[in-house]
Amino acid sequence: MIIGKKTRLRPIEKDDLTRYVRWLSDPELRSYLNQTLPLSQAQEEKWYERNLQAGYEQAWAIDAQPNDMAMGPWQHIGSCSFRDIDWRIRAGEVGIMIGFKEYWGRGFGTDALQTLVAWGFYSLNLNRVTLRVNADNTRAIRAYEKVGFVLEGRLRQARFANGAFGDELLMAVLREDWARAVSETEVQPLS
Ligand SMILES: CC(C)(COP(=O)(O)OP(=O)(O)OC[C@H]1O[C@@H](n2cnc3c(N)ncnc32)[C@H](O)[C@@H]1OP(=O)(O)O)[C@@H](O)C(=O)NCCC(=O)NCCS
Repeated sequence: MIIGKKTRLRPIEKDDLTRYVRWLSDPELRSYLNQTLPLSQAQEEKWYERNLQAGYEQAWAIDAQPNDMAMGPWQHIGSCSFRDIDWRIRAGEVGIMIGFKEYWGRGFGTDALQTLVAWGFYSLNLNRVTLRVNADNTRAIRAYEKVGFVLEGRLRQARFANGAFGDELLMAVLREDWARAVSETEVQPLS
């Protein structure tokens, strides 16, 4: 388990999968994720079993406490992951989804991503973390900027959602930039 300030990241359990199926039945959420079709329970379970064996994606469940005083039982609200890790370049790509819409815009996504990125730099010894995002996903882009990601490129009309093409942005944070930001804000990194 990895503990953040407002969230904790833990391995995904089989019992969590029904929530992913429910969340991904929402077309709005899928449009942000560039995922056209909803997923069935059987598909989720297949992904889970294959990933357990092959480990191509390091996926974490995001838990949060329902009120801002960080009190009460932990609730599963989404997931985040590292994938496509290149151990020679020491680079990896992250993805994140808060499936529980009531938790959008309350700082949980930023905290979970900060925690994941800290894990990437301090525990996986990565040097570069990247992500891809729809150019019109302003809430996600703002959250990514707060974690330290900067714009590196724009793929024009690389996405299609809600009947229209849209651009995809490539963003990245380097370990040196992130470490500087951490020391300036005096945030204690993960050990
Ligand atoms: C993207 C996501 C992870 C962000 O997490 P979050 O907890 O909602 O975001 P946070 O509250 O940490 O930060 C959002 C920031 O954007 C701002 N914001 C919120 N809604 C916004 C909107 N509609 N437009 C612009 N900015 C917005 C918030 O004010 C906040 O910035 P601030 O702290 O400077 O005020 C989450 O919203 C999510 O999972 N959305 C659906 C799936 C998705 O988009 N995944 C990303 C795919 S690349």
